[in-house]
Amino acid sequence: MTTHLHRLSDELITIRDFLRWGASEFLAAKLYFGHGTDNAFDESEQLVLHAIHLTPPLADEWLDARLTRAERERVLENLQRRIDERIPAAYITGQAWFAGLPFVVDNRVLVPRSPIAELIKNRFEPWLTKAPQQILDLCTGSGCIGIACAYAFPDADVQLSDISFDALAVAEENIQQHNLFERVFAIQSDMFHNLTGLRFDLIVSNPPYVDAEDLADMPDEYHAEPEIGLGSGEDGLDFTRSLLLQAVDYLTDDGLLVVEVGNSWVALAESYPDVPFTWVEFQHGGHGVFVLQAHELRDARERGLL
Ligand SMILES: C[S@@+](CC[C@H](N)C(=O)[O-])C[C@H]1O[C@@H](n2cnc3c(N)ncnc32)[C@H](O)[C@@H]1O
Repeated sequence: MTTHLHRLSDELITIRDFLRWGASEFLAAKLYFGHGTDNAFDESEQLVLHAIHLTPPLADEWLDARLTRAERERVLENLQRRIDERIPAAYITGQAWFAGLPFVVDNRVLVPRSPIAELIKNRFEPWLTKAPQQILDLCTGSGCIGIACAYAFPDADVQLSDISFDALAVAEENIQQHNLFERVFAIQSDMFHNLTGLRFDLIVSNPPYVDAEDLADMPDEYHAEPEIGLGSGEDGLDFTRSLLLQAVDYLTDDGLLVVEVGNSWVALAESYPDVPFTWVEFQHGGHGVFVLQAHELRDARERGLL
């Protein structure tokens, strides 16, 4: 099929040409970038290189290599889909990177992008003082957070859980892909419902937290993602409120809770003025992640602050 991009691309020859041109077309089409990249050039690079079986960053000396006809076709198809369908690039390539690791993704899961990756790389220091043995990634989606934790803590067992069977199928694929099936497990559960009796040294969660107003205003690319992974009531905090009440029952005495709430952090801090949230400051971007120790949660609950 001769597409708009095909007609316009006759003069393009090298990888560099396609990278630059893809970025220009993306900007002209006013695409949104926020699912693993934050600009048109990186987005173009991801899609062009995927089509020729290479991964970014590409060394400078390769940039002026020519593409074969078949490669041009695949590159153009990727670029055209990104413009026509307005879906995240990761749904076209079927792959996303998180904490330096590759994950299989499709539209059954959100595209991994949590700033929690930085905390994992730092092994949750200074809040965790010893390596956790039992870890829970609650609301796991693709499994990216829990699986990255399994790399950071090679002696730990990791439970991945999600309400969505569809998401868990993707998480299972990633467990296999990373060869971690002996110590990373996936279980379906509505929050803690199927986790009764278990205790974790570390519970990490990137739950749905987008408020109704933000949800309505989101660019098309977000609407390609499962809505159950984004919205959580009028102020985005329905899930997090229940989590705060229950989490201590699933933490060991010196356990740690780490939760992302994104832009809803303002509403959360206002709703619970006396809860001693520690809001993480990130070096590589991101915000809206809090840390609470088990004893802080217990104390807050006993004092009726939750
Ligand atoms: C924001 S996505 C995060 C996915 C993944 N942790 C990541 O960072 O890419 C939230 C996930 O929470 C799941 N979820 C929504 N409600 C839930 C509930 N009540 N119990 C467990 N999981 C839930 C969704 O299916 C979705 O996969």
